[in-house]
Amino acid sequence: MERTNYCGTLRKEDAGKKVVLLGWVSNKRNLGAIMFIDLRDTSGIVQLTAPEADKIPDVRNEYVVQAYGTVKVKDVPNKNIPTGEVEVVLDKLVVINKAETTPFIIADKTDALEDTRLQYRYLDIRRPILQKRLKLRAKAVHCIHEYLDENNFVEVETPMLGISSPEGAKEYLVPSRVHPGCFYALPQSPQLYKQLLMIGGMERYYQIARCFRDEDLRADRQPDFTQVDIEMSFMDQDQVLSMAEGLLAKIFKECVGYDVKLPLRRMAFWDAMDTYGSDKPDTRYDLHLVDVTKVMKETSFEGFKGVNYVKAIRIPQGTAYLSRKKQDEINLDAHKFDLKSYMTLKFENGAFTGSFAKFLDEKSSAELVALMGLENGDAMMFSSHNDRRKIDFGMGALRIKVAKDLNLVKEGTYDLLWVVDFPMFDPIDDKPGQYVAEHHPFTRPRDEDLPKLDNAPEEVLAYAYDIIINGYEAGGGTLRIYDHDIQWKIFKLLGLTDEDVNRKFGWFIDAFKYGAPPHGGLAFGLDRLAMILGGTDNIRDVIAFPKNLQASDPMSKAPGEVTQEQLDAVHVKVVD
Ligand code: AMO
Repeated sequence: MERTNYCGTLRKEDAGKKVVLLGWVSNKRNLGAIMFIDLRDTSGIVQLTAPEADKIPDVRNEYVVQAYGTVKVKDVPNKNIPTGEVEVVLDKLVVINKAETTPFIIADKTDALEDTRLQYRYLDIRRPILQKRLKLRAKAVHCIHEYLDENNFVEVETPMLGISSPEGAKEYLVPSRVHPGCFYALPQSPQLYKQLLMIGGMERYYQIARCFRDEDLRADRQPDFTQVDIEMSFMDQDQVLSMAEGLLAKIFKECVGYDVKLPLRRMAFWDAMDTYGSDKPDTRYDLHLVDVTKVMKETSFEGFKGVNYVKAIRIPQGTAYLSRKKQDEINLDAHKFDLKSYMTLKFENGAFTGSFAKFLDEKSSAELVALMGLENGDAMMFSSHNDRRKIDFGMGALRIKVAKDLNLVKEGTYDLLWVVDFPMFDPIDDKPGQYVAEHHPFTRPRDEDLPKLDNAPEEVLAYAYDIIINGYEAGGGTLRIYDHDIQWKIFKLLGLTDEDVNRKFGWFIDAFKYGAPPHGGLAFGLDRLAMILGGTDNIRDVIAFPKNLQASDPMSKAPGEVTQEQLDAVHVKVVD
C-alpha cells in the first residue's frame, strides 16, 4: 500500500513534504469547521489537521485510515510527543476499515483491569507502551544472537516433546496417541539435551528456548517462558561467568544505554543469606540483617535462651513507621514466613521502648545500640529460629517489606551481582541425613569440597551461580559433573538407588561413559531480563500473550475442555 513515512518519525525538517501515512485513529477533536485527528502507527503518533472538517469522511477511534497531506510546523508545539512540533494538513483521508468501540481506550495510561486487557490483548498491544516493551525485548534478543554468534556459539534446537524427567513435579504432560498410556513431557529447560550436545562435541551451544513449568504463578513467573540457554565445554567457572556478564553488558548498553561495570560483584550464598536474608539480594538499599543472638540470649527473656539464631533489622527513623496497625501487618507477614517470635523495639532519647524493653539491662541495651548502629528515632525488628535458612529467609522477606514501605529502593538504577558458592545439598526438614539437590543432581561440587562428600555433605559447596538484578534472579547455572564416580556418589547421597537412576535418567547417564568433556553453562530468564530492562515488575508486560495468575488466557480461554473423541484418541479418561 502507498505509504511514504511512519507517523512517529515526522519532524520539523520534514516541513513542506507531501506524505502518505497509514494507521489507526487514536483520537479525534472536532472543533466545528476544523478537525484534529491523532494518527497512530507502530512508530508513534502524529497530529492530522483537517482545515475543512466536512470534506473528510466521518472517522471514529481505531478506524484504519490512509492519510494524504502536507507536513507543516505547528504554531504551538505539543511538548508531550516526539512529533509535537509538526502537524500534517490533510488533503485526503481514506477509510480502510471501520472499528467498533473498543472495551478500553488505547493509550498508555489505562484503568482497564488486567484481565480485560488480556482478553483483548491485540488491542492492548496497540498501546504504545506495550509496543515499546516488545521492541525492547526483540532488541535484547538481537544482542544475544549477535554476541553469542561472535563468540562462536551454535544455535541448536532441542525437542519440545521429551521424556518426563527427575524434577517431574512441575511438568506439563502430553498424552501420546500412538503409544496408549504413554506421555511426553514438555521441557522445564533443555538441561539434559544441552549437556548431551557437549558430549556430542558441539563445545558452545545456545538456544532461545521455550520452557514450561506447572508451578504457582507470581508476578515474575509464567507457565511458559523463555530462557537464553547456554552451555560451554572446557571452561572453568570464571570463564563461564565472564562470558555471561559480557553478554549482559552488551544488552544493557544497547537496550537502555547503561554501562555495566565488569567484572560483576560476587557474593557467596551464605553471605547473601546472612546479610540480606535472600539468595537473590536486592542491594540497592542499605538494610542489613544483624546477628544479635549472643546479646539476646543474655537478656532476661526466657524465650531466647534455647534458640540457635536471633536476627534483627534496623529500621531507620522507624519509631514513626511502627504504628500499631503496621505492627499487626508485619506480624501477619512474619507468621507467613514461619517466624513465630517477631518483636520490635523503639529507640528514643537514649532508651528502648516497647514490650521487650523490660528484658534489657544497661549492658545489653548498650550492646544492641552498638551492634545495630541505632540512632535516635530508629527502631529494630527481630525474630528467632533454630534453622539458619528459615531465620534468614523470614527476616529477608520482612527486610523487603520495610524497604518498600519506606521507599528505600532507588528506582532507575541497576544492581547486578553474582551469587556464587551455593550449597550442593539442601537438608530435608525432619529427616536428618537426607538431602535434595539445591540445583540438580548433575551440579559439580567444588574441587576443594570433594572430601566432605563422605563426612559433611551439608557443608559441600557447588560450582553454582545465579545472576541477580535488582533483587530478581535473572539467570542461573552450574558447572556439571563429568566424572562417573562423583556422579554416583551424589546419586547415593540423594538417596537414589541404581534402579531409580536407571529408570529416571539412565539414557542420559549412559552418555557419560563415552568421553564427556568438562562443561557447564547457565540460562537467563529472557522474560525477567526484558521486564527489568522495560522498568516493570510484571512479567506479563513483556510477553505478547501471557497467562494470568490462574495460568489461563482470558482471550482464548486456554486451558479448555476437549471433546470425548479427542480424549479417546489419546487414550485419556478424565475422572472428577
Ligand atoms: P533455572 O531453573 O534457575 O535454571 O532457570 C533459569 C532462569 O529461568 C528463569 N525462570 C523463569 N522465568 C519465568 N517464569 C518461570 N516460571 C521461570 N522459571 C525460571 C529465571 C531463572 O534464573 N537448566 C538450568 C540452567 C542451567 O543450569 O544451565 C535452569 O533451568 O530467570
